[in-house]
Parts: sequence; C-alpha cells; structure tokens
Amino acid sequence: MLIAPSILAADFANLQHEIEMINASAADWIHIDIMDGVFVPNISMGLPVVEAMKRHAKKPMDVHLMIVQPEKYVEAFAKAGAASISVHAEACPHLHRNIQQIKALGVKAGVAINPHTSVSTLSEVIQDIDLVCLMSVNPGFGGQKFIERTYSKIKELKSLIGQCGSSALIEIDGGVNQDNATPLMTAGADVLVAGNFVFTSPNPKEVIERLKNIK
Ligand code: DX5
Ligand code: ZN
Repeated sequence: MLIAPSILAADFANLQHEIEMINASAADWIHIDIMDGVFVPNISMGLPVVEAMKRHAKKPMDVHLMIVQPEKYVEAFAKAGAASISVHAEACPHLHRNIQQIKALGVKAGVAINPHTSVSTLSEVIQDIDLVCLMSVNPGFGGQKFIERTYSKIKELKSLIGQCGSSALIEIDGGVNQDNATPLMTAGADVLVAGNFVFTSPNPKEVIERLKNIK
C-alpha cells in the first residue's frame, strides 16, 4: 500500500517543516490539491507554492488538479516538479487528448472521478493511464466524511483494470482514516491519500507509519 499525505491539511505557514516531516516518514508520495474556485467551490494553492515545495520534497509530488481546462496548466505543473498529474474526467471533454499530453511531458498520468461519476467512464482510457484517483468525498475540502459507496466502485474498477490488462493504480482520496484503511486495502486500493487524519494528529509521522503498516 502506498501512502500519500495530503498537504492541504498541513500548516501552510510551515510548509518546509511539513515537507521535511513527510521526507522523514514512511510516506511514499506527497499529494498536492490544486483548486481553482470554479471546478470546486474552494481555492487552495498554485504553481509558486508547488515550485517552493519541490525545493524540499524528497518524495514524488502527486498533483491532483481540481481545475477547469487543466490542459492549460499541466505543462507548468510538470515543470514545477510533479511526478504524477491527475485531471478530473468531469473537467475534460477531450480526456484522451489530455492524458496523452500529460504522458508526453514524461509525467505519470492520472484521472480523477467524482463520487457521482461511474467507473465505466474510464473504460476507453484505462489502458493509457497510470493512476485512477477515486474521490471518496466530493472534491473541494479536506476533513469530509468518507462515502461508503466507494468500496463497490473500487471492486468495479479493479475488475475493469484486470479485464483491460491495465497497470493503473487505484488511489482513494477523501476521508481516509484508521477505520477504513484496512477495508479499502482489502477491496483493492493501491494508494491511500490522507489529509486531516495525518495532520490533525500530534504525531503525524506515527500516523503515516500506522497507515503504511495496515494489514
Ligand atoms: C479533497 C482533496 C483531498 C483532501 C483529502 O478535495 O482532493 O485530497 O485533501 O483530505 P482528507 O483526508 O482530510 O479528507
Ligand atoms: Zn486530492
């Protein structure tokens, strides 16, 4: 299981300290949420912050674009140091083209889908992508309640990936905690994003370690 702490829940006034904590932890990736106030009803951070984080980050930066017209910005995020970039299927009328654009930049290509979006939306692109970010909350905010229906979507996605011979990883984003981590792994998740669960703890590094060791 790969663990990707979400920096959205970190102390933005102490980002260097937070990144160094992640560097020293059992985390595999750093999940970075980019929100534009249009695709989602919130604004988070932009390119200069990602560039600044890159100067300290020793783990791959997993960039989740919750923005309209992501094709305008994927190149800039790749240059800013993203190792993977996920765009939302709901924001991309030309999803196939957007995926090819990300791959041509030498970055892992991910597609995120909202809770209301069916897994079957991905059937024509699943072979082309490295990552599916299954939203287990409605995107826009950290600290929301996990949507239980996610489990059946994971199973459906796992079977689609198998049928198509795809090597896409299944990433679960939103409301991940101690209680759902094990059932998520059992259902077939490969990557767990965790924001509030990690950063509201007095010992975030220990929480990351616990997630990493779930059985
Ligand atoms: C939600 C973001 C998530 C968020 C997860 O729009 O995409 O990555 O940071 O935060 P928690 O783990 O607090 O739900
Ligand atoms: Zn996210």
